[in-house]
Amino acid sequence: MVKESGSAIASPNIAFIKYWGNKNSELRLPSNGSLSMTLNGLETRTTVYLDPGLSSDSLIINGETAGPLPLQRVSGFLDILRQHFNQKDCAAIESNNNFPPGTGIASSASAFAALAAAYTRAIGEFPDNRELSILSRFGSGSASRSIHSGFVEWYAGEKSSESYAEQIAPPSHWNLVDLIIITGYAHKKVGSFAGHALADTSPLQHARVQNCRSRLDSCRTAILNRDFELLAEIAELDSNLMHAVMLTSSPPLIYWEPATILLMKSIRTWREEGLPVFYTIDAGPNVHCFTTEQEHESVLRKIKSLPSVQDVLISRPGEGIRYPD
Ligand code: DP6
Repeated sequence: MVKESGSAIASPNIAFIKYWGNKNSELRLPSNGSLSMTLNGLETRTTVYLDPGLSSDSLIINGETAGPLPLQRVSGFLDILRQHFNQKDCAAIESNNNFPPGTGIASSASAFAALAAAYTRAIGEFPDNRELSILSRFGSGSASRSIHSGFVEWYAGEKSSESYAEQIAPPSHWNLVDLIIITGYAHKKVGSFAGHALADTSPLQHARVQNCRSRLDSCRTAILNRDFELLAEIAELDSNLMHAVMLTSSPPLIYWEPATILLMKSIRTWREEGLPVFYTIDAGPNVHCFTTEQEHESVLRKIKSLPSVQDVLISRPGEGIRYPD
């Protein structure tokens, strides 16, 4: 018999300043702060059913029973929530994404933000968004940013209570368009969870982290001043720095496919020719191409004329955590 249930909706986000590596992996305190935009049109809807009769947690994603590894990760996260709120009941979770997982669109961000929020509703708790951000961080670091709408900064912090995300500007602040270029639907071999653990094996990670504060400052300034050129410069630099760390980790992580590199070069050429465009790439082969509302249709045509482009999702600054009821 189901005792209580709770539902929540969250969207993924794309980081301009990336989170890569933890200074404390147990507490998921990131090695550096990060800055992102929450994405509209893409969402994870999750319902948590609590039942004292259940002997274990269960997880259904997009109508299919999840395998042991995702279930283990979710159950581990629920243990943290249960301990925090002094609860015992196991949970049956149903989650649906309207976008393909494992493609570099960070499904773990929306998944764990929605799960943390749905769980708190199911137990009748109403934590504020700062607490929700801290709690979701334990499920997935980037989930801490998906709690908020628009443009969001996650402060690394020195202890758990200091490591949370906050909005720096609402969605209406800047009508940027993210053209999410899907170059492949294959599941990545090394997810970001395992990737973070390798970050410190790269001799470049220290330099990347050391220099992060100034990139964060420039990125925040670019967003607050709606300075496209500055954002383009900083976001591409930061994405390249993260991929340089990935490429020089032991073992190396190579997320790019030939189509990824073609897109990186094309986007830079278009910018040199005067178009407002830049790229940023997460732990996958797909490319986020940012542009302005005015130019997005012509940029989209250029993208679609390139080989190996399977699909393009169009996203804009989106909403944070929300509740269907
Ligand atoms: C490359 O938040 O997915 O997307 O905490 O292990 O779930 P876990 O990692 P996750 O890492 C995100 C990595 C990234 C960069 C970013 O979104 O900042």
